[in-house]
Parts: sequence; structure tokens; C-alpha cells
Amino acid sequence: MESSNPIEELHQPLLKKLLCYPLYVIFPILLIHFYLDPFYSSSTNIIIQTPFTNPITTPPPSLPFSLCDYTEGEWVPTEAAPLYNGSTCATIKNGQNCMAYGRPDRDFLFWRWRPSHCDLPSFSPSAFLRLVSNKHVAFVGDSLARNQLESLLCMIASAAEPHLVYTSGEDNKFRRWIFPSHNATFSIYWSPFLVKGIEKSAEKNFNQLFLESANEIWAKDLKDLDILVFSAGHWFLHSAVYYQNGDVLGCHYCENHTEIGFYDVFGKALKTAFESVIERGREMDVILTTFTPAHFEGDWDKLGACAKTAPYKEGEKILEGMNEEMRRAGVERVQEARARARDSKVRFRVLDVSKIALLRPDGHPGPYMNPYPFANGVGEHVQNDCVHWCLPGPVDAWNQILLDLISRGS
Ligand SMILES: *[C@@H]1O[C@H](CO)[C@@H](O)[C@H](O)[C@H]1NC(C)=O
Ligand SMILES: *[C@@H]1O[C@H](CO)[C@@H](O)[C@H](O)[C@H]1NC(C)=O
Ligand SMILES: *[C@@H]1O[C@H](CO)[C@@H](O)[C@H](O)[C@H]1NC(C)=O
Repeated sequence: MESSNPIEELHQPLLKKLLCYPLYVIFPILLIHFYLDPFYSSSTNIIIQTPFTNPITTPPPSLPFSLCDYTEGEWVPTEAAPLYNGSTCATIKNGQNCMAYGRPDRDFLFWRWRPSHCDLPSFSPSAFLRLVSNKHVAFVGDSLARNQLESLLCMIASAAEPHLVYTSGEDNKFRRWIFPSHNATFSIYWSPFLVKGIEKSAEKNFNQLFLESANEIWAKDLKDLDILVFSAGHWFLHSAVYYQNGDVLGCHYCENHTEIGFYDVFGKALKTAFESVIERGREMDVILTTFTPAHFEGDWDKLGACAKTAPYKEGEKILEGMNEEMRRAGVERVQEARARARDSKVRFRVLDVSKIALLRPDGHPGPYMNPYPFANGVGEHVQNDCVHWCLPGPVDAWNQILLDLISRGS
């Protein structure tokens, strides 16, 4: 397998650098590290908020456009096995194929999300395929977008086989599949800022974002897309300089410019992305998967960084701080876009999974981002992924909600 030593080499200098930063900055930097690690990249995540699902009672509407708030609920045990595993699905990224890499416990597979006020139908691969037949579904964003799309492809693959028809970019950052049986197309576009940007490099240790321009890498294809799922956010935590209309707007953890944080910046990037979709004027479903929290506890490179093997109970953890701010930035921009697009053919929805994800500390690859990490005993450093999700895993539920969301039309 493609494992081993890049990790050691990459981490030593990184750790030294990290000592200069306040702790709060460290996770973001680690995240970037994950994203840049060749074995570790894009995935997808989606948060879901579904409009009308058999309300049992009338819950207080926490989102104006949602009659049933999926975000209220709990993870309950289920005996139903996942729709796929690493043997039945060929498209799982190595670092997220946890069982194949030796994760010993299985309990994390047997939970389902049960909303408090409505029923969430189980995922039907054939229903999903029918819904997207003759359509083009695109996932745009970072490695959590990829994680979610790979989950979705695996879930659908239990009914029909996807054919990979296009791949490009380092680490498969751009790929396209077709399900010939339904003429359904799925694409993934790597665009972690959604807007035009230059990713940090060895020469420039910060990202550069151009907030007024949607990233053409996906925007150029808008004329062909029918369903567009955006999933981004974690890259906004990294140090960056922000430009708007040729001027420096400010920066985040950088020298020489005014610190402006990243919540508003994330909001601006979403707004630019959404505007570009509205301007295109094509009939389209646009869904934003909200920010999903990481679950690092203690040192990320020590045993036990995210070692829990069961979900949190309802109320045991609340969404707060940066996780909630990032979620809110997304939800509010979708609400605005929804109002803006009222007379257009674009339907905006939010897949509000932030809280649902928060309750799943057990769903990450942890040390099993690398193959059999303990084959030679437990070393001093154990690299952990507490950001992405094992496949199968909790992210499958995002897609269960996604299906419900897009099947409801309005
Ligand atoms: C994967 O799923 C198939 C079909 O359900 C099953 O036969 C097989 O044993 C599973 N493999 C693993 C490793 O769980
Ligand atoms: C197949 O789907 C694409 C959209 O992805 C559509 O443009 C095309 O017309 C479809 N082909 C047929 C034969 O319906
Ligand atoms: C910040 O300004 C100093 C002095 O002009 C310059 O040497 C340095 O390269 C600048 N840093 C960045 C990241 O541009």
C-alpha cells in the first residue's frame, strides 16, 4: 500500500512550526496537512435539512424554510447493515476504508439518525437513481465533499455500477462517473474555497482568495449541471490573504494585513458561488452541506486522538464556537440566496448536518487512515484523521437526508 514514511518526514518540521502558534491555530494547520497529504484527500460531507417530512408534532421552525428540522434527533442503534463495504464498493479512498486498514471495532456501523419530529426514510439506491436519471450531479468543495460523494456512489453502487469516465488532477481531484443504466452523471470538483484562490505552497505559506470571483474550475460547467452540492469550510481556517476587486480586504493569521477572521470571508465566498449559479439562470437544485466538526481530543499525533467507539447522546455535546459559527455562516447565506432566487429556477437548500456530525466522534478513521498502524506495536507518534469519515460510516446518513431533501422538490 502506499503508506509509511511521508508521514514522519512531513510531521517533524510541521510540529516545530506548530509550537509557535496558539493551540487554536493548530488544528486548522493539521487539517491542511491532511488535505495535502497524498494519501489523504478529498471527501465530502453534507448537512441536511429537509423541508417536509411527516411532521409528527409541529416543532419550532429553526430554519424558516424547513417544516421538519432534521437536526433535532439522536443516533439510535440499528441492526441494519450498511449498504456497502470495502469489498462491494470500489470507489472508497484508501485512508477512509477503515476496515481494510485494520479498524477492529464494528459498532460504529450500526447506528441510524432518528430525527425527533419526523421520519427519515431509509436510503433507496434505485429511488436516488430514478431521481437523477438524465441529470448531472456535481459535488464542489474540499475533501469532505469527496468523502460524501464517495459514500453516495457506494450506496448507489449496491443497485447499479458506476463507470469512471474522467479523471484529472493530483490525487483524483476531478472525477466523473456515469451510471449508464440511468444516464446519471456524478462529478467531483476540487475547489476548497469555492471562489478563485491560490492554495498555499512551499513558497507562500498562506492561501490567497479572490472573493468576488467564483472558481471557474466548476463555474465554467454550470450550464451542464442539474444538482449542485457544495461542501467546503475547513480550508478557511488556514492562514490566508483575502482580495476583493483588486484590493486586499484583510487576512487571517498572516503578516502585514489586518486580521479579519474567516467567518465573514466564508460567507462572502458562499455568496459569490451562489450568485454565479443564480446568474446562470438554469433550473438547478443547489444544496449546501454545512460544516462538520472535527473530533481531535488531545494531541493529533498521539494514540487516542479520536478513539471513541460510540456516538454522543443527545444533549451530551452542543454545537458551539467555531463549529456553530461556520454552520451559521452557511445557513444564513443559503437563506439569503433562497430569497434572492425566489423568482428564478434555482432552488437552494441546506443540508444541515453539523450537529448530526458533532455527535459522531466514533466515525473517523483515526489511526486507520494508515494501513494497520499498530502492526509493529504502538509507536510514539500515531497520525490520526479525526476530520473525515470512515466508509461506510456516519456520512452515509448525510446522503440519506440528501435523497429526502431533493426528492421533495420545493
Ligand atoms: C461485504 O458485503 C458482502 C455482501 O453483503 C459480504 O458478503 C461480505 O462478507 C462483506 N465483507 C466484509 C469484509 O464485511
Ligand atoms: C443524458 O444526461 C445528460 C445530462 O447529464 C443529458 O444532457 C442528455 O440529454 C441525456 N441523454 C439522453 C439520451 O437522455
Ligand atoms: C511583510 O512585510 C515585510 C516588510 O515589508 C516583508 O519583508 C515581508 O515579506 C512581508 N510578509 C509577507 C508575508 O508578505
